[in-house]
Amino acid sequence: MKHLLSAGDLDRDEALLVLDTAEKLRELADRPIKKLPTLRGRTVVNLFFEDSTRTRISFEAAAKRLSADVINFSAKGSSVEKGESLKDTALTLAAMGADAVVVRHPASGAPHRLAASDWISASVLNAGDGTHEHPTQALLDAFTMRRHLGELEGRRIAIVGDVLHSRVARSNVLLLQTLGADVTLVGPPTLLPVGVEQWSVATSYDLDSVLPKTDVVMMLRVQRERMNAAFFPSAREYSRRYGLDAVRMAALPDHALVMHPGPMNRGMEISADVADSTRSVIVEQVTNGVAVRMAALYLLLAGAGSAVDDAVPEQRSRETP
Ligand code: NCD
Repeated sequence: MKHLLSAGDLDRDEALLVLDTAEKLRELADRPIKKLPTLRGRTVVNLFFEDSTRTRISFEAAAKRLSADVINFSAKGSSVEKGESLKDTALTLAAMGADAVVVRHPASGAPHRLAASDWISASVLNAGDGTHEHPTQALLDAFTMRRHLGELEGRRIAIVGDVLHSRVARSNVLLLQTLGADVTLVGPPTLLPVGVEQWSVATSYDLDSVLPKTDVVMMLRVQRERMNAAFFPSAREYSRRYGLDAVRMAALPDHALVMHPGPMNRGMEISADVADSTRSVIVEQVTNGVAVRMAALYLLLAGAGSAVDDAVPEQRSRETP
């Protein structure tokens, strides 16, 4: 595989290969020296046309831990503000010898356009395109669930809130289905996409009835910046019906996890005490994101054939000279 554009591009074996590779690379995060020489001399460009904290830093850390050279490009302050097209930006990156381009773009389909073009021969990784997809987020979410719950076959995952505008939800639905999990999308009718019946997942407008039967509840941010109409009466009304607070959290089974891709609207879709509770794995999602993105870059650039076991040396004990 050359690009990572959609979570739906991965079959079960490929998805498990990424997750297993990430598992191996995750060990590095707990070592004093977190770096591998694997991608030395390769160039990874972070091409961000939309704001991001976690995803950009995470891809940057991932590429650096594999010893790649990293170029960060954000549209703000670049010639994009002077009207430069995606094509000309891509040609510039190609001229600089990019081996991988990590793209975040407000337009759904922009990474696909780049990958399908002959503007650039680099691997393209989709870091979130419009309301469409965010495959590495879905992979890091699955990775985090798997660490706590084991294999995801038959696990019940509720994805709650602004599904309509969420690329995280779309990618999660695709990947979780591939991994055999049972997904329920929960939200007000106005925030569930038209045609959701064809996604072959369960849907519900009633969060309280779903929570007791859930292994993982993934809360989504209400994406006000993508809303150009009133999708619910008021913020208070929304959090009363769809916000996860301590009372609702108590309805979850004891082993259930609370997740959120970030950035959170504390007090809106999730209360501060739930976000900071022991069931919340939100900070861990960020840590795991680096390992998963390392795995994605590793598999795309070093090739699926190169065994990660050879790349990650056994940690020597301190006594060994
Ligand atoms: C998400 C995104 O940008 O799609 N965040 C992320 O990547 N961690 C979700 C969001 O913006 O709500």
